[in-house]
Amino acid sequence: MFGNLQPQAPDKILALMGEFRADTRQGKIDLGVGVYKDPTGLTPVMRAVKDAERRIWEAETTKAYTALAGEPAYLNALSRMVLGEGLDDSRTAALSTVGGTGAIRQALELARIGNPDLTVHVSDPTWPNHLSILKFMGVPFVEYRYFDDATRGVDFEGMKADLGRAQKGDLVLLHGCCHNPTGANLSMDQWAEVAGILDRTGAVPLVDLAYQGFGDGLEEDAAGTRLILSRTPEALVAASCSKNFGIYRERTGMLLAQVRDAGARDLAQGTMAYLNRQNYSFPPDHGARIVQVILDDEALSADWKAELEEVRLGMLALRQQLAEELRNLTGSDRFDFIEQHRGMFSRLGATPEQVAKMKDDNAIYMVGDSRLNIAGLNRDSVPILARAIVEAGV
Ligand code: LMR
Repeated sequence: MFGNLQPQAPDKILALMGEFRADTRQGKIDLGVGVYKDPTGLTPVMRAVKDAERRIWEAETTKAYTALAGEPAYLNALSRMVLGEGLDDSRTAALSTVGGTGAIRQALELARIGNPDLTVHVSDPTWPNHLSILKFMGVPFVEYRYFDDATRGVDFEGMKADLGRAQKGDLVLLHGCCHNPTGANLSMDQWAEVAGILDRTGAVPLVDLAYQGFGDGLEEDAAGTRLILSRTPEALVAASCSKNFGIYRERTGMLLAQVRDAGARDLAQGTMAYLNRQNYSFPPDHGARIVQVILDDEALSADWKAELEEVRLGMLALRQQLAEELRNLTGSDRFDFIEQHRGMFSRLGATPEQVAKMKDDNAIYMVGDSRLNIAGLNRDSVPILARAIVEAGV
C-alpha cells in the first residue's frame, strides 16, 4: 500500500530552519522562519500567558472534551478582538481551529462545499503554504499582481486589474495586515477600493489575519479586515494567535464566516463544526483558553497589550536602524522601504544568488525569495546584516 508514496518537496521555510540548526558557525543569524525573538534571541512566553496558564491550572477540574466548534467564550472574545464593535453575531459563525493554518484549511474546505467550482485568487507572492495547501486540495488558483519589485511597495494598479477578473463565488485570499512575505501593505483607501471590486464581481474575501498587533497596532491592523467585512455580505477570516500571543506550538486559531442572514449562519456554523469532526474532531483547548482568560480579564489584557506593543515597537526600531545603516553605507535612500514595510517581514529584493552569498559568507539565513524576518535581528546584528547586504551587491 505504500508503494505510491513519493518524496515531498520540503517546505522552503521549514527546510531553512533545519539548515540553520545544522550550521555550526559562531554568530550565525536566523532571519528565516516567522517566529518573534527578543534581543537575546529567545522566543519568550509572554507574561500574561504565564499568568493565564497558572490560573487555568488552578481552576481546571476536567480535561473532558470542549465543544466541537470550540469554547464559545474563546470564540466570542477573539471574534471581538478581530472584528471589534462591528461584529454582527446574528450573521457570523465561528470555529476554533488548529492554528491559523487550520483556519485556512477549514476555510477552503467550507468554500469548496459552498462552491465546488471554486477558484481562489492569491497574491503574487504569498505565504508558500497557501499555495501548497491549494495544490494538495486540488483547488484551482490564479495569482493576482501584488508586489512591485521596483518600488518594493504594492503594485495596486496591477492588483486592481487582476482582481477585476474574479468571478462571482470565487475566493480572494487577502493578507489582513503585515503581508507575508513582502511586508508591503494596503492603505485604507486601497482596502476600500478592494471592497468595491469584491462588491462588483461578487467574489468573496478570505482574509488571513496572522499578525494582528505586529504592524501598526491591534486595532489598526484589523481595520482593513473590518472595512472589507462591513462592505461585503459574505466573507471568511482566518485568525491566528500564534504570533500576537506568542503561543505558536499551542496551535490556536479561529475561522470566522460572515454570511447573509441568521439562517445561513446556522448552516455555516453546522458545516464548520462538521469539518472539525471530519478532520480532527474536537479542537485543542489549552491555547484557546489562554487567549480567552487574557481577553476576558482587564488587568491581564492590559499587560498583554503592553507587552505586544513592546514587541511591535522593537521591530519598528530595528527597521529604522537597518534603513539608516543602509542609508549611511550606500549614500542612498533605496532601502527606505524597509522602514515603510510593516510586520515581521520585508522582501529585500535580492537575487537567490545574493541570498546564498549572505548565507555562505556571513551565516545570515533568509528565505530564498529574500524575505527577512526583522524580529530575528537585534541592535548588534543590524550593522552586520547591512554590511552583508551591500557586500552581496543587493
Ligand atoms: C512563516 O511564514 O515563517 C510562519 O508563518 C511560519 C510558517 O509556518 O511558515
